[in-house]
Amino acid sequence: MYRILTSILVICLLTNAADAQKGNRLQPKPALLRLIDGNLRQAVNQYKVLMGRVPPGRMPKTYNANTDKLETSDVAWWTSGFYPGTLLYLYEFSNDTALLREAQSRLKLLVQEQFDKGTHDLGFMMYCSYGNGLRLLSDPGYKDILLNSARSLSTRFNPTVGCIRSWDSKPWHYPVIIDNMMNLELLFWATHASGDSSFYRIAVTHANTTMRNHFRPDYSSFHVVDYDTADGSIIAKKTAQGYSDSSAWARGQSWGLYGYTMVYRSTHDPKYLAQAQHIAHFLLTLPTLPADKIPYWDYNAPDIPRALRDASAAAVMASALIELSHYVQPGEGRQYLDVAEQIIVNLSANIYKPVVGSNGGFILRHSVGNLPAHSEIDAPLTYADYYFVEAMLRYKQLGGR
Ligand code: GLY
Repeated sequence: MYRILTSILVICLLTNAADAQKGNRLQPKPALLRLIDGNLRQAVNQYKVLMGRVPPGRMPKTYNANTDKLETSDVAWWTSGFYPGTLLYLYEFSNDTALLREAQSRLKLLVQEQFDKGTHDLGFMMYCSYGNGLRLLSDPGYKDILLNSARSLSTRFNPTVGCIRSWDSKPWHYPVIIDNMMNLELLFWATHASGDSSFYRIAVTHANTTMRNHFRPDYSSFHVVDYDTADGSIIAKKTAQGYSDSSAWARGQSWGLYGYTMVYRSTHDPKYLAQAQHIAHFLLTLPTLPADKIPYWDYNAPDIPRALRDASAAAVMASALIELSHYVQPGEGRQYLDVAEQIIVNLSANIYKPVVGSNGGFILRHSVGNLPAHSEIDAPLTYADYYFVEAMLRYKQLGGR
């Protein structure tokens, strides 16, 4: 009898799980799909404006509307992969080969970065660019470049600390920033592509150490944890880009949410799903998350509600929430999707997404790069554009599209 009851229970649980899986195919809203298609068509035209402005050998960074000046970087800067990555996303949407040609020509500039061992940002730089290139174009040369990038990134892992080192600069000893979660996607891909599990082990160890040490009891995250390499102990928990050491820097929270959602996708380990859900719960119940869901640059900024908004934090959060909505029960998934939808709708308004031909060719305005460093304040940013486009493409795939 006990065995029969147990079997019935297992069948019920499996049926519920299957129903949940089916129900998890949350449906997109037709009106929002139309808005997104319009946004993406505009973005294609807007990036053609940007293409016309970016000098050879450089990557766009931001734009100053007062001086009409495009600011660019060399390829070693952490944002160098976003411009080719966005071009590739927009090519994926439009099949417009002008975007593809520009993406391919900028990818060539990035090729040298595969051997750059001086940055923890190779995931951003190479996976957002070459990763999308490989996915769309299946160029076998891109695979080698990505594997070399993963090898370079792995050299920054210290087993005593259990993390990949972020900056090499003083006064830090062995700093690890929450942003670094994003770079793990390259390592998970590398194990999948090569069969070498060392990349996977580094990524999982980094994710575990960060889960242990970066998060407060309410699941907000510190920006920087500085470690002692002698024994892996913690020297300090600080901020570099947030308002204070104890504050919740908005983009950092979005990186954490996106990061643990991606780690769950890559490992299927439920503890990472739970972590992403906890972070989402923290964010979505925060009294200082504005009603329009476009975060202030720091959720503890002292001048809220007049504090600057950060469209990049919103875009990263929207993209992460759309992915996370697939992995949870339908009711919870719908809540995440509601917020992602609000973000996409609100970023589509003229205040954030000005008309084609303005804003130096960037899609979005009103992001905050590094306020304490007086850099890129209330400005367009390539990564705001990248994750906004990614969020919209992810939304278009809902319901099996
Ligand atoms: N370091 C990445 C960021 O500014 O979010």
